[in-house]
Amino acid sequence: MRLSKRLMAICDLIPAGQKVIDIGADHAFVDIYLNKYKNCQCLATDISKECIQKAKNNIQKYNVNVQTMVTDGLNNLKLTDEIIIISGMGTKRIKKILTPDITNDLVISSHTKIPDLKKFLKRKHYKISQEKHVSDKKTYTIIYAKKTIWGKWLVQIKKKLKKNV
Ligand SMILES: C[S@@+](CC[C@H](N)C(=O)[O-])C[C@H]1O[C@@H](n2cnc3c(N)ncnc32)[C@H](O)[C@@H]1O
Repeated sequence: MRLSKRLMAICDLIPAGQKVIDIGADHAFVDIYLNKYKNCQCLATDISKECIQKAKNNIQKYNVNVQTMVTDGLNNLKLTDEIIIISGMGTKRIKKILTPDITNDLVISSHTKIPDLKKFLKRKHYKISQEKHVSDKKTYTIIYAKKTIWGKWLVQIKKKLKKNV
């Protein structure tokens, strides 16, 4: 299968064999590619039922093992060590999706306001470990971000405090 340069750059950032959750997967091309060629376990999610139906049709067409779910952002997801992909949306929406305290690695490709996205990630104690710029009609920035040790510790403390209330 042929992916756009942007989607290919996203797939290149994901190591083989990883668990992946793709938020706003739409057609699920990234997940299909990652399962088919990099043996990743993927969950393709989208807020739109129609998009998930489109994803299911593609998953069947390419005969791959990709799970799907209709949900808004991170709602209803039990996170462990998956890499979370959020791509093809604007920074405002991405920030809303990333409001909960999480520690997962992130691969993000926002269509807007990259400096604002970077500031937000910093505030959330994420450090950008890789950044790519891909020209595909327009130039896209793709970021791999990891929670800092301090950030992970803060999330743990918050969880403990909540349990004790
Ligand atoms: C332009 S598409 C991007 C598709 C693909 N990720 C890409 O990069 O080409 C944006 C997708 O995000 C979905 N979306 C928007 N807001 C969302 C949210 N809060 N939670 C999950 N999906 C959302 C839309 O339904 C749409 O399918």
